[in-house]
Amino acid sequence: MPLSSKSVAIVYHSPYGHTAKVANHIAEGVKKVGVQVHLMNVEHVDWDVLDQADAIIFGCPTYMGSLTSALKLFMEQSSKRWLARTWQGKLAAGFTNGGGLSGDKLAVLQQINLFAMQHGMLWSGLPMMPTGRGQNDLNRMSSFLGLMTQSDNAPVEVTPPKGDLETAMWFGEYTALMVNRIK
Ligand SMILES: Cc1cc2nc3c(=O)[nH]c(=O)nc-3n(C[C@H](O)[C@H](O)[C@H](O)COP(=O)(O)O)c2cc1C
Repeated sequence: MPLSSKSVAIVYHSPYGHTAKVANHIAEGVKKVGVQVHLMNVEHVDWDVLDQADAIIFGCPTYMGSLTSALKLFMEQSSKRWLARTWQGKLAAGFTNGGGLSGDKLAVLQQINLFAMQHGMLWSGLPMMPTGRGQNDLNRMSSFLGLMTQSDNAPVEVTPPKGDLETAMWFGEYTALMVNRIK
């Protein structure tokens, strides 16, 4: 598939690699529709790439029912862009990985959503009907505001499960399709 001129940046935090694995699957989904993708660890932010992207997908693990401090720091560091309205009109989406089935992951998506709204971005969710609650099911967390995945306290090679990773890929593909719809 030819690359479009559109690009999606995925900025994430992942101390133990599970959220990074999810981010990688989101990126695979974006690539499926020929949109360029930039994967970016929040500890090494390229602000120019973010400014030029048509969409930014933000993600981090759920810590104590909240964002991780690294993602929060990034949010505060974006305040000059907030003032200048640099990201206004860009598409935004969010994801989080947690150890619990609920684990209060929704609070993280809500915080990312509010951050995007503060910037005047356009929110894109996860309009996928859950297929069930098993490890191979899609959207087994039944999340619609954004992507939720769950990892056990086990190596990144075995968790999050297949269904969560496939949901992540679908989420990336969907977000990229939305980017292509914006003129
Ligand atoms: C300090 C701390 C707090 C955590 N709090 C939560 C929580 O509130 N909810 C939850 O589902 N998981 C919680 N977890 C589990 C992490 O979300 C999980 O280990 C993480 O998503 C793994 O992602 P990573 O491999 O990308 O670092 C917590 C883990 C740590 C270390």
